[in-house]
Amino acid sequence: MQVHKYDVVIVGAGGAGMRAAIESGQRARTAVLTKLYPTRSHTGAAQGGMCAALANVEEDNWEWHTFDTIKGGDYLVDQDAAEVMAKEAIDAVLDLEKMGLPFNRTPEGRIDQRRFGGHTRDHGKAPVRRACYAADRTGHMILQTLYQNCVKHNVEFYNEYYVLDLLTVEEDAVREDGTPFKQKRVAGVVSYDLASGELHVFQAKSVVFASGGAGKVFKTTSNAHTLTGDGMGIAFRRGIPLEDMEFFQFHPTGLAGLGILLSEAARGEGAILRNSEGERFMERYAPTIKDLAPRDIVARSMANEVREGRGCGPNKDYVLLDLTHLEPAHIDAKLPDITEFARTYLGVEPYTEPVPVFPTAHYAMGGIPTNITTEVLQDNDTVVPGLYAAGEVACVSVHGSNRLGTNSLLDINVFGKRAGIAAAEYAKTADFVELPENPEAFTIQLLDVARNANGTEKVSAIRKELQDTMDANMQVFRTADTLNQVLKDIESFEERYTRINVQDKGKRFNLDLLEAVELGFLLELARVMTVAALHREESRGGHFREDFPDRDDEKFMKHSMAYKEDHAPADGSAEEAIAGVRLATKPVVFTRYEPMVRKY
Ligand code: FUM
Repeated sequence: MQVHKYDVVIVGAGGAGMRAAIESGQRARTAVLTKLYPTRSHTGAAQGGMCAALANVEEDNWEWHTFDTIKGGDYLVDQDAAEVMAKEAIDAVLDLEKMGLPFNRTPEGRIDQRRFGGHTRDHGKAPVRRACYAADRTGHMILQTLYQNCVKHNVEFYNEYYVLDLLTVEEDAVREDGTPFKQKRVAGVVSYDLASGELHVFQAKSVVFASGGAGKVFKTTSNAHTLTGDGMGIAFRRGIPLEDMEFFQFHPTGLAGLGILLSEAARGEGAILRNSEGERFMERYAPTIKDLAPRDIVARSMANEVREGRGCGPNKDYVLLDLTHLEPAHIDAKLPDITEFARTYLGVEPYTEPVPVFPTAHYAMGGIPTNITTEVLQDNDTVVPGLYAAGEVACVSVHGSNRLGTNSLLDINVFGKRAGIAAAEYAKTADFVELPENPEAFTIQLLDVARNANGTEKVSAIRKELQDTMDANMQVFRTADTLNQVLKDIESFEERYTRINVQDKGKRFNLDLLEAVELGFLLELARVMTVAALHREESRGGHFREDFPDRDDEKFMKHSMAYKEDHAPADGSAEEAIAGVRLATKPVVFTRYEPMVRKY
């Protein structure tokens, strides 16, 4: 085992991690640990844009953007956080422009902007052009630009280092009301070097989690194979709660049967969703902004068309995205990648044929709870000194129960930057915390359990069955029965997980072993998501309970906080454990927007 010492360690080299690194690297000695290579991070798959009320092409302002974000999130958004994001959006785009990002331009040379779902002029009157973009490769361009700037600032990367544990100590502390409690403080992380199979302990004054989402709990997903929720899982196992995990976004337009993302930018550029009767069905569900309604509404409407027998294809199980009325030259200029995906993966020519699409699991609205400074919370009132989180792994609650398209590239830039600054500034004032004795012990045990389980169960088979049940029972529509089915299935998968067989016993590039570890995270997170979904007996944003179809502000206008069984607050505020998860709640922050019934 080797030990390294840095002021700041950043876990993850996607947009949030690298944006943090650019700030932190200029202020403190910083290392970035990633299980990939930075330019292969999943931010590179983001397509359509990053929004900011630049008002370059039509009237707009950050207050309209704030309102849209809060309404889009069905009022579960923390309004102070949404204000920060919408205000800082403008500088976030300009920062990227100065770093060299090649945005599409207007004929006058300004950054061009396009329409996206839920982004409106004057509080919902009509769609507004707010998304800044680089064709349909905006995430790719952001990732390359951030990486180049990290290189310029000499950020140190540890590539293919899987972080598997968070090291904290507990210190005696006293709450404002005089009650004593144990406060966690960061000491570092433990990582596994894929190339050598060696463990590396990183002692750090600050740790920033920016390790992305957990979309691989589902089968049909736009997420890359690596999005197994490691950061959320590590934090949860170490006693940090997870917030709002029941809210998972299904992006309306995945390529049917495959889940590959087909950007909402297509609809922003004028594409239309049609059912088997050729009807533009979104006119019925969202008469004002139609195909550009927020994603939860569009995804549910599509699933409903299929349920009611108006789906297309031999099995009537998808709808069509029609671009055929758009000029081929316009398609080529604005949507080159996604139209190529339709040709390559479905053999469909988007100039002349509509493209089969269906909702695909896309984005976790929930995650590690943070305040607007990106400090991680160990309960509603207490931060963990030295621990920060940003991007999809975090829940600063700018997305509430449903994220608007293009607010995620914005989130990673605004809160990634905030995390980098906060982590470095904290490191300037703090001392290193002494590492616990045998800091690697927990990780060795984790790996040994997987390596030495001498059973016959295949990791890939359990993962597939988990993804199948999540697709069937935890998707756009849910009921208590479907959710209980998932929990029953997970219980059996967890039993089988104790009898897996990792065939590769070697040290170098042992992906067999790491996939087993990742499956452990997936099982844990699927359980948390399902328990939280079972508990929320209402419908809001991306969480639609057919047995409770209305939003219930009286009972559920609050965030859920899921704790691992033994780590719930001692004040009695958490519910009894279900499947090892105890739920508590956290108030939603309101500034000035009263909850209304969402109409589009
Ligand atoms: O549709 C898209 O281009 C995806 C954007 C997003 O998730 O923000």
